[in-house]
Amino acid sequence: MSTQYYNPVEVITGAGCFKELPQVVARFGAHALVIRSPRAPDATALLDMAGVGVVEADPLRGEPTLDYVEAARALARREGVEVVVGVGGGSPMDAAKAVAGLFPHAGPVHEYHTGARKVPGGGLPFVAVPTTAGSGAEVTKNAVLTDPARGVKESLRHDGWFARAALVDPELTYSAPPDVTAASGSDALCQAIEAYVSTGAMPVTDALAKEAIARIARALPVACAQPQDAVARADMLYGSLLAGLALSNARLGGVHGMAHPLGVRFNLPHGLICGLLLPYVMEYNIEHARRKYEHVAILLGVGGAEAGIARVRRLLEKINIPLRLRDVGVDRAQFPAIVVESLPSGSLKHNPRKLGAEDVTAILEAAW
Ligand SMILES: [Fe+2]
Repeated sequence: MSTQYYNPVEVITGAGCFKELPQVVARFGAHALVIRSPRAPDATALLDMAGVGVVEADPLRGEPTLDYVEAARALARREGVEVVVGVGGGSPMDAAKAVAGLFPHAGPVHEYHTGARKVPGGGLPFVAVPTTAGSGAEVTKNAVLTDPARGVKESLRHDGWFARAALVDPELTYSAPPDVTAASGSDALCQAIEAYVSTGAMPVTDALAKEAIARIARALPVACAQPQDAVARADMLYGSLLAGLALSNARLGGVHGMAHPLGVRFNLPHGLICGLLLPYVMEYNIEHARRKYEHVAILLGVGGAEAGIARVRRLLEKINIPLRLRDVGVDRAQFPAIVVESLPSGSLKHNPRKLGAEDVTAILEAAW
């Protein structure tokens, strides 16, 4: 059986490369829409000063909803923008990706989210600027969007939705507070490990995932304890970039299948719930991915799959990620609903151990 790896994103790396944003954006259009989180650097001022026409959407607080994307798309159309820029964590980058992708297409955003309309290609160019080391959304083709009315958090995706360029500047992550660094870094670690053991893994993604695991494992505790450590911040951001490049083709696994329903129902940050579930899903998978978990262990500096999982758990404890669902306000009575909502997930289907309702229940009970 053959495998295919495809990722067309122009990736620009280096401390301070954010200042190249106006030149990069100008290659794709003269009038830009900026979507950013409240904490993100002021891309609007930078573009404005360089003579790029720019309009800014309302700052995105939390994770993007369908209403947010609908409003930003309407603004982009009214203003006649030619390129969309997303600056921040996975949330503003995914919102910008969806606005760019759906810009020219008819029909409300929710009809794409429910599947009533097929996601088309042919959107506006999109430029991504990550300011947290976590999602890898700068190099993926999916946008995770939440519909609060249906209580559903799901990805829209299309091969044409990759960013045209990503500016990956570690200096932008220095100001991330320790809890954000810990949660987003746990997501990156989880994505690297899930992509590595995924049923969609292939030689190219294995190489990317292994380098991501090594960088993230050594840098995550340092980045949380010493936010100004330039080496740790660079390892984290490049590690999350590499994990994104891996998952963009290998997909993910059980943690990500369960993380979305848990996140929506209990309003938990995505990275926190990914870190919390990771050791339990690894334990459940161990006989189905033993050889790869042994490689993970080596990358973490220990021998044996079980020791590797223990090391992951200790790493998460060290950065204060809670390791029990009961400790983050999850209601056990809702496990049956969470199971039902997890099963259709594409991530779940790429887990190395086939996961049905009984399996998801067993993992939730173990993590309770
Ligand atoms: Fe994730």
